[in-house]
Amino acid sequence: LNLLITASEAVPFAKEGGLADVVGILPKFLKTQGHDVRVVMPRYYKVDRDRYRLRLLPGTLVVPMGIIGEMYCGVYEGRLPGSEVPIYFLEHERFYGRDSLYEVDNKGYIDNDNRFIFLSRASLELCRMIDFAPDIVHAHDWHTAAVPVFMNTLYRSDHYLKEAASVLTIHNMQHQGSFYEGAMDVLGIGWQHFTHLGLEMDNQVNLLKGGIYHSTVINTVSEGYAREMQTPEYGWGLEGVVRERSGELCGILNGVDYEEWNPETDPLIPATYSARDLSGKAVCKQELQRAMGLPERADVPLIGLVSRLVKQKGIDVLAEALPRLLAMDVQFVLLGAGEPWAHFYFGGMAGSHPDRFACRIGYDNKLAHQIEAGCDFFLMPSAFEPCGLNQMFSLRYGTIPIVRATGGLDDSVHNLDSGNRTGTGFKFWTLSAGALFDTVGWAVHTWYHDKEMIEILRQNGMAERFTWDEAAKKYDRLYRHALQARLGAAR
Ligand code: ADP
Ligand code: GLC
Repeated sequence: LNLLITASEAVPFAKEGGLADVVGILPKFLKTQGHDVRVVMPRYYKVDRDRYRLRLLPGTLVVPMGIIGEMYCGVYEGRLPGSEVPIYFLEHERFYGRDSLYEVDNKGYIDNDNRFIFLSRASLELCRMIDFAPDIVHAHDWHTAAVPVFMNTLYRSDHYLKEAASVLTIHNMQHQGSFYEGAMDVLGIGWQHFTHLGLEMDNQVNLLKGGIYHSTVINTVSEGYAREMQTPEYGWGLEGVVRERSGELCGILNGVDYEEWNPETDPLIPATYSARDLSGKAVCKQELQRAMGLPERADVPLIGLVSRLVKQKGIDVLAEALPRLLAMDVQFVLLGAGEPWAHFYFGGMAGSHPDRFACRIGYDNKLAHQIEAGCDFFLMPSAFEPCGLNQMFSLRYGTIPIVRATGGLDDSVHNLDSGNRTGTGFKFWTLSAGALFDTVGWAVHTWYHDKEMIEILRQNGMAERFTWDEAAKKYDRLYRHALQARLGAAR
């Protein structure tokens, strides 16, 4: 199949979260399956043209932007590293010539509607420029959710796109791309689409909603979240729309890039190790304690967290439980960036509990690897988690996950069953400081009193695999299903 994948981020070029991990690797596995895959994203300032040997294509892309008129952009071509998958970067100084992807001072850029309507429209216009007729156009999250909207309206008889089906993958229901209604004039699809059964939501233009309505099929990144997003608790107001399309909705769990996340070969950790020989993990723990200024003790359970510090990740609940958690004989290492209060709070806790709590505010991939390798447990108390990647990294690194049983966390971690002595981690259900405290307490108690059980959990976890090969096969099936559905219906 000819596949065009469009998104706002991809590793290694630009990353805010797991979306980039998915977009950077899935295409490589699709290519291995024999598809002709192309990726398109913005050329943010941070995407270094020399480092990635990007080549400017001849010609200029003309992008109609409704009432704004035609806009122009250059297109750079590169390859996804370690593959032959072409990736196209849209060069537009005014929209993408900025340091950060989406926001400044924790506020979304005021022209994000135009920036991402542009990305969506330009992704489709690109087909003509590179002479590529996709069978499937695969969009991700609200940033490119206008793609299926355009395909189902302005591009229905377009030479390159009239036969294509659209797939929209939702990685997060909270972020919907909701803008002032004037964005309708930039989309240029006509105000008849500004209705409850279209792009309108609370008198605003809601791009994700439009994408859900217009795309041939939709999916999300775990089966659990596919169920949850149809409920008021997790749907962020769009649960009804999702329910309407539940016949064309499925969940496909993300995979892990085991070339990057493998404790046997990881060049970013002080000592490598395997399930058979864990001695290197003890070295990693000691080095991590030293680097983070914690007492170098092998006997104490070391609990790690690597996360965007936002409410989704349950950090408010963690903050509430922390004073009680730190009364136990434990150590924590936290790495993350996000809301200012969290920087202040966790920084303060590190100051007042220097022998139990260490924290690094910022983004640091190397330290993320060292935390996965050096810790005994990994905590993810998420309020919601469409998939979550760190718990899967943790399993591979023999670092036992402690998770709230939601979305992909629930799907990828098996709760300890002390009767049958099975499981891969510890789970709790209620999003509360009490439940979090009890479950961490359970893990710590197990650590001190049932070493054999800890070893079973560790070995079970290290034997688990969440491969992209498997996920890509599921996407293959989804694409074929979308093509069938496209033949039979309007979308
Ligand atoms: P989300 O996309 O919601 O943030 P995921 O678990 O899917 O959650 O993906 C998060 C990704 O970002 C993982 O690869 C994780 O290691 C990485 N990450 C998050 N915060 C940091 C940080 N402060 N430093 C390094 N890596 C981070
Ligand atoms: C989103 C979700 C996260 C998921 C990631 C990749 O950022 O919050 O749970 O793992 O997308 O699909």
